[in-house]
Amino acid sequence: MTGHPLTMLPAWQALVTHAAALRDVHLRDLFAGDPDRFARLSFSLGPLLADYAKHRLTAETMGLLMELARARGVEAGRAAMFAGAAINTTEHRAALHVALRNRAARAMMVDGVDVMPEVRATRARLKTFSDRARSGVWTGATGKPVRHIVNIGIGGSHLGPMFVADALKDHRRRDLSVDFVSNPDRAQIDEILEGLDPGATLFIVASKSFATAESMFNAGIARDWIVDRLGEGAVGRHFAAVSTNLKAAAAFGIAADNVFPIWDWVGGRTSVWSAVGLSVMIACGHDDFDQFLAGAESMDRHFETASLDQNLPVILAMIGLWHAAFSGAPAIAILPYDHRLRLLPNHIQQLDMESNGKGVMSDGSPVIGDAGPIVFGGGGSDSQHSFFQLLHQGPRPIPCDFIAALKGGDPASRDLLLANMFAQSEALMTGRAAKDLNATPAELAPHRTFSGNRSSTTLLVDELTPYTLGMLIALYEHKVFVQGLVWGVNSFDQWGVELGKELAKSLQPALDGGAASGLLASRDSSTAGLVAAYLKAKAGQGGRQREEMP
Ligand code: F6P
Repeated sequence: MTGHPLTMLPAWQALVTHAAALRDVHLRDLFAGDPDRFARLSFSLGPLLADYAKHRLTAETMGLLMELARARGVEAGRAAMFAGAAINTTEHRAALHVALRNRAARAMMVDGVDVMPEVRATRARLKTFSDRARSGVWTGATGKPVRHIVNIGIGGSHLGPMFVADALKDHRRRDLSVDFVSNPDRAQIDEILEGLDPGATLFIVASKSFATAESMFNAGIARDWIVDRLGEGAVGRHFAAVSTNLKAAAAFGIAADNVFPIWDWVGGRTSVWSAVGLSVMIACGHDDFDQFLAGAESMDRHFETASLDQNLPVILAMIGLWHAAFSGAPAIAILPYDHRLRLLPNHIQQLDMESNGKGVMSDGSPVIGDAGPIVFGGGGSDSQHSFFQLLHQGPRPIPCDFIAALKGGDPASRDLLLANMFAQSEALMTGRAAKDLNATPAELAPHRTFSGNRSSTTLLVDELTPYTLGMLIALYEHKVFVQGLVWGVNSFDQWGVELGKELAKSLQPALDGGAASGLLASRDSSTAGLVAAYLKAKAGQGGRQREEMP
């Protein structure tokens, strides 16, 4: 880690020294030495409370981290994002998802053009369309109102709306079903279609490119399903699309009125705020969707205007970086204690790992250290009885995010959930020393002690509403962006997913039964062997005759 402009920075060097000095300091001692630690190291922002007192750090750590953030140009990077600069440098694009939740009169510029008139016009069209579909005014080819929404997409065109629709289930119209299809294993779409009335079904094909193999495959199945049951002429009344590729959507047979644009300055993993959220809009209603945008907009204003040391996304980003760079934390765990947030870990995993899972910095040089953490998680209660063992006693410290709502739902459930959540962060922090074990045989003592000293953030929203959900997601988006700025990576491209796509495309003809030998000649023996095994099985020969494989 020596010799790089990042690690040569005085703030970085000071953090290295500071981390060494803190090495033997236990979180228990930090709490014991400062009764006001919670007050000092927690942050309220409207209906959101963030407690970061249970991180192994001090006020000095925070000061040095902010120095590092300033030295790495976080303020300028933040301004560039809001100014619509081409911060996605490898694709020469802006990353202006903040424009999608800009509900003010403010202009937002990309390449010298205010994108807001088009954003607002699209929002107005989405409102009309979703109101009509939701209320039953918009009918299918047989005159039936729409009662089933099926979103077809993958990655950002799937996970975002699926997570939000799931989290806001209480806000959904009860006589409208919403399903999400992403898997090209047609077992998924078949299972969903089985229960649906074609005359009352609306498919939304969400694909920025309108070329993603999995989504096009599923869209084709859905189209055939409609055509078989209602005829070719019904396609226009049973499909809507969200895409930058308006031509391809039209070629698929989707009526122009039902096609909603997104723009190349919207990344897939931050697209739920755009027309990609159409399924949520229909299910929950436009007003709730607007509140979802309002929550994100409030986080945007905070992120844009607050000084770095009073800026929640920046604070959480720098704490994450502190653990990754100076404490050897390889991962972070996202642990919601609220059933409605069960897909939050998946969403944040995609957001963080697709954004910052990079091997090189923006200038093409290798990344430093552990940029881009492994993000995993799951519902807190279930996870307590599974991977929490490693969080408590595994050799590598893994910082955790605990997330819950203070109000709403069944009170008894909430008592149980929150008691557990608070207890988990406490246990991770305090641990248990051998001297505190009662009547434990000496040989069991090492197994029953806990080092503690393990860090966590707790995020509490007053209530889980469209507004607070919007705040929460935007908080993580900005956190990931800030970490990208400090590590020096481009958080907005995803070249790493391309190679697999290309290779799959070139293998598919062989698997389809085409001339395999030519295609496989240049492949390694493992890949060729696996393809051969599949082709044998497909030809009905089956068996695992290893010696016959090429
Ligand atoms: O393969 C990754 C990816 O490009 C994501 O970034 C994106 O959200 C997803 O595929 C789907 O892409 P599209 O919306 O173009 O179908």
